[in-house]
Amino acid sequence: MSNRREGAYRYQQLENWLLKGIQQQRWQLGERLPSIRDLCRQHGVAKITVQHALQRLEAQGLLEARPKSGYFVTLQAAADEPPATQSVIEAPRPASVSEMLQDIMRRSAAFDILPALQAGDLPPGIVSLNRSVGRALRRQRGNDFQYYDAPAGDDGLREQLARHQQRRGWPVSAAELCMTSGCQHSLFLALQACCRPGDVVAVESPGFYGVLQLLHQLGLQVVEVPSALSSGLDCDALEQVLQRWKVSACIVSPAFSTPAGALLPEASRQRLLALAEAYDLALIEDDIYADTAFTAVPPPLKALDRTGRVILCSSFSKSLSRDLRLGWIAGGRWHERIIQLKLVTQLASSRFLQRGVADFIRDGSFAAHLRRQRQQLRSQRDQLLALLRGWSGVVRVSAPLGGLALWLELAPGTDVSATYGRALDQGIVITPGPLFSASGQYAHCLRISFAHPWTDARIRALNSLGQLLGCR
Ligand SMILES: Cc1ncc(COP(=O)(O)O)c(C=O)c1O
Repeated sequence: MSNRREGAYRYQQLENWLLKGIQQQRWQLGERLPSIRDLCRQHGVAKITVQHALQRLEAQGLLEARPKSGYFVTLQAAADEPPATQSVIEAPRPASVSEMLQDIMRRSAAFDILPALQAGDLPPGIVSLNRSVGRALRRQRGNDFQYYDAPAGDDGLREQLARHQQRRGWPVSAAELCMTSGCQHSLFLALQACCRPGDVVAVESPGFYGVLQLLHQLGLQVVEVPSALSSGLDCDALEQVLQRWKVSACIVSPAFSTPAGALLPEASRQRLLALAEAYDLALIEDDIYADTAFTAVPPPLKALDRTGRVILCSSFSKSLSRDLRLGWIAGGRWHERIIQLKLVTQLASSRFLQRGVADFIRDGSFAAHLRRQRQQLRSQRDQLLALLRGWSGVVRVSAPLGGLALWLELAPGTDVSATYGRALDQGIVITPGPLFSASGQYAHCLRISFAHPWTDARIRALNSLGQLLGCR
């Protein structure tokens, strides 16, 4: 085992050694680790030390203990370096939207559909959601249909949402939330509240392409900040940006950011808030993937916010249904302005829909749905990772602990976008790397989703894609 610098305690040293082994694929996905007895002997440590290290890796979702069989690798953790092509920070530029993104959205395939799914049985959570919403519709009061709801949204739903958030360690009250028509709408309101046309906004790179559409629409400039595959936004790089340019806001996804699924560590969260204070900028937190966490849902950045600088944006699109078109925003110091902007852009949210969803949360159906979904996503991620191990030319794959997708880096020189049209001919929609960058970086990368059930059709589509990319 290597030296003391890797951790003050022996269990930490062993944990780091095992983690490195998993990252370097000394033990591959599904493979068994050496027995506890062997590890004790090899490293000259007590059984309790080995057990402690293994249990910590298990809690991170990297290992699974199987009774009488030992510990198995359930996740191939990516070595945490920034993406290969992002090195120099480019000056802010006006944001633009690529033709390819417009094409993908027209196909209602914002999340790479490989290929379009056949209609199958509805998941139990959606059946029960439909029941709750149907009941709310039937119970609608006589003249509700003639009136708009209050702009901030239904009190009952905001109360349920607040309680849901409190359970993950964010002591928010219903009064701090405003309902919206989805996370994209929340992000739009957040940017309008804290920026003026021409202002500079810092974004993660690679990062969510929907943000680029918003910046383009609002006449804002974008500056890209590198984001590492598993630890997210590089705060040193952000500081360099803030030293050079006046930045009004930074959009960040601390929990399982798309495309790589990174989770921002506690130290980076504290640093981000300190930077926002020092350089007087707003932090727009895109929290949409938090509820997909495979283990405990981490508290949001907003939970650490003492000065109202963080605007949290989210929705039910990734945790429950994209079709609800129901999101929320906690606007901090911009809360009142945001409610006004919600009024201007949406008038009001649907009352029966909100009441139905409130009932769905209240009676425990949402929590039950999240438990089932979490297990399913985790197993779909593992199946996808196992399949990708059979591909050649893969330089790196992210191994997220939540979210709906992973990020694949192929050999430099590979042009993933060139495959877009040929994949489409086979009914496969892909999301190539350049979609996730304002300056068209990441030509050799792509995002692949594990949101869909692991069917034969999907495996065939992935195999075809591997061939098109020259990986099989
Ligand atoms: C990171 C991120 N934020 C926001 C959105 C938009 O979500 P909604 O459907 O709630 O508008 C998406 C959808 O793909 C997303 O991936």
